[in-house]
Amino acid sequence: MAFFMAVANRKGGVGKSTISVMLAQAFAIWGKKRVLMIDLDSQCNASLILIGGQGWRDARNADKTIADFFYDLFDGIPAKPRDYLLPNVGDVQDETGKAPRLALLPGSLLLEDIQGELFVRQARESSNPEVVANRVRGRIENLLRRYGASYVLVVLDCPPGLSLAALAALKTADKVIVPFKPDYVSQLAVDRIALLIEDKGTLDALNQVPTAERGYLCLANGVRNSGKDRNLIEEIGLFHPMMQTQMPQKDAIANAFDWEPGLRTLEQKYGDGLSDMRRLYAELAPMIERGSQKATLQAANE
Ligand SMILES: Nc1ncnc2c1ncn2[C@@H]1O[C@H](COP(=O)(O)OP(=O)(O)OP(=O)(O)O)[C@@H](O)[C@H]1O
Ligand SMILES: [Mg+2]
Repeated sequence: MAFFMAVANRKGGVGKSTISVMLAQAFAIWGKKRVLMIDLDSQCNASLILIGGQGWRDARNADKTIADFFYDLFDGIPAKPRDYLLPNVGDVQDETGKAPRLALLPGSLLLEDIQGELFVRQARESSNPEVVANRVRGRIENLLRRYGASYVLVVLDCPPGLSLAALAALKTADKVIVPFKPDYVSQLAVDRIALLIEDKGTLDALNQVPTAERGYLCLANGVRNSGKDRNLIEEIGLFHPMMQTQMPQKDAIANAFDWEPGLRTLEQKYGDGLSDMRRLYAELAPMIERGSQKATLQAANE
């Protein structure tokens, strides 16, 4: 059974999609695990990084996107969740020269419209908008969980901002990775998503939850070698669980955003960002493997 990991921050451009893809590829290649990436963002960046523009257009024409999946299965029609997936995606190869076992549920420009449509469908059963929103979110959560049986890790690349799908992803996640770029608004952004994840109304209430018990981990990304960045990260780490790994600002990491036809080695794709990717993987691997084993045991006992 899968460990569900969401990568989320309501602030845009902090590296959610970059980190999501890195983690998915690291686990599929170094961890030799079955990994699924679910693209919950209507900008579809994780999909574009993994399959390129043409690959994404082909997926859309074949009705293999997250919007098709939600639309078709919301009312319980008996389609198979795996029919919406693309297997063996990405432009990197494993040590044997093959594409790794990394599958993708492609993103869709229509995801927001579809959420509106699901809301309208559900509204026939209740006139209370809060009840309707909770039911839609709960159903999306159930749909996401249906992928848990076939994978060791499911990565949920979240959109910036808030949507029912993003809220469902936060609820589904066993852990949320919160990338942030060290700047003066990052603390506020981290506070806001932490309140949502922990379901607390105030920072005082949040501070009652020991950092080790929280459902999220902060990851500094795009870090420059400056005292200002170090201070900002340290300050956020006073109130939030912080990963030891920090991802530096590097051209090689920015360039990894570009999909190329054919398969490259990880070294070719990530260049001198590969050592940072290794540190990120090494820090998260034990938690994910433990979590997946625990979920498998729980499922066997149910
Ligand atoms: N460590 C890094 N070093 C250099 N560039 C980076 C780094 N991390 C991300 N970037 C670049 O920053 C930009 C934003 O990254 P990305 O799209 O992953 O962020 P995001 O949080 O997913 O954005 P959005 O909120 O729009 O979904 C991209 O151009 C990406 O290549
Ligand atoms: Mg993104």
